[in-house]
Amino acid sequence: MHFALRLAAFAALLLTSYSDALFIPVKRDMLCNGHAALCDRKYGNTTFLGSHDSFAVSTSVFALARTQEVDVPSQLRRGVRMLQAQGHMNGGKLHFCHNTCGLYDGGTVEQYLKDVKYFLDRHPNEVLTFIFTNPENLSVDKVWKPVFDSSGITNLTYVPPQPVMSRGDWPTLGEMIASGKRVVVFLDKGAENKTDPSSAFILPQFQMVWEDPYDPTDPKWPCKVDRSAGPLAPSQQLNLMNHNLNVNLIPVGRGVRLPDRLSSPRTNGIRSILKHAHNCAPLVEDRSPNFVMLDYVNVGQGLEAVNRLNGFAFNS
Ligand SMILES: *[C@@H]1O[C@H](CO)[C@@H](O)[C@H](O)[C@H]1NC(C)=O
Ligand SMILES: *[C@@H]1O[C@H](CO)[C@@H](O)[C@H](O)[C@H]1NC(C)=O
Ligand SMILES: *[C@@H]1O[C@H](CO)[C@@H](O)[C@H](O)[C@H]1NC(C)=O
Ligand SMILES: *[C@@H]1O[C@H](CO)[C@@H](O)[C@H](O)[C@H]1NC(C)=O
Repeated sequence: MHFALRLAAFAALLLTSYSDALFIPVKRDMLCNGHAALCDRKYGNTTFLGSHDSFAVSTSVFALARTQEVDVPSQLRRGVRMLQAQGHMNGGKLHFCHNTCGLYDGGTVEQYLKDVKYFLDRHPNEVLTFIFTNPENLSVDKVWKPVFDSSGITNLTYVPPQPVMSRGDWPTLGEMIASGKRVVVFLDKGAENKTDPSSAFILPQFQMVWEDPYDPTDPKWPCKVDRSAGPLAPSQQLNLMNHNLNVNLIPVGRGVRLPDRLSSPRTNGIRSILKHAHNCAPLVEDRSPNFVMLDYVNVGQGLEAVNRLNGFAFNS
């Protein structure tokens, strides 16, 4: 009896050490955006999962202006590493809104950035990109930059060594993480005209990132350069795939387009995303896209598709 107990205790001890050896991950600090291989990969050679109008969250099918069903912290936990959003002035403060703040008001940009910073502070080995739009041409120096400062996130932002970075010029994710400058900020317009040197982290998107047509309605995912600016050729810029399918309610002119929630399991499936990437590849010297931007990031296999585009066979 006594001997049997001792034997059991010994066996338990053995099992514990064995399972520890098997399951305790070593060198976790060597992961960059979840993968050791990405530490040596240049930012410009990486594919990131993106969230379209990331702030426009609702679970109600009647909220027609929604594009997401889970909030920004949940999107980040699910692997989103590029956040897109639209800035509008509302009551004297910069808000993220969908077309107008009357249609959908996602709250202040300051609070949004604070929420993202909270996540980044707790996940020090993650590189994140913002691609914001500035439809009201609000001043970068006087409106946008102060909000970054008051949220506390400016200290994490990356300031490139030269005004225009080609895709090969970017540092590796490992270098960005080591320097603590691991947030890249693009703005669609106005950033080319900033004058305050301390706004240098707000980068003119179309000089460095081109997009194919936005609000697409064709599930065959044709790809062409839609918005891009010089001096670089699009093939030397980063590229963003607008992979958010819309239904056109009134197909006259641009019509009235709404995010197609019913098709989203297929749209956000691996086949559909890889097909779109394949269609864009000839425009970028047969590379993968840099940003795969989706509606309803909680639906489908967006992260698995992005992992494949980064050359990882498994979602881990
Ligand atoms: C913003 O500027 C662009 C030109 O850069 C102009 O076409 C557009 O009308 C302006 N929008 C507003 C709201 O001022
Ligand atoms: C800014 O970030 C650096 C790391 O990159 C950190 O050491 C420093 O404490 C931060 N400063 C502030 C004011 O948060
Ligand atoms: C930025 O400046 C250029 C020329 O200097 C001008 O054409 C353009 O409209 C300006 N854009 C904004 C958003 O102010
Ligand atoms: C990164 O480089 C590899 C090897 O050239 C290429 O297959 C892949 O498409 C590139 N990805 C991006 C996003 O540039």
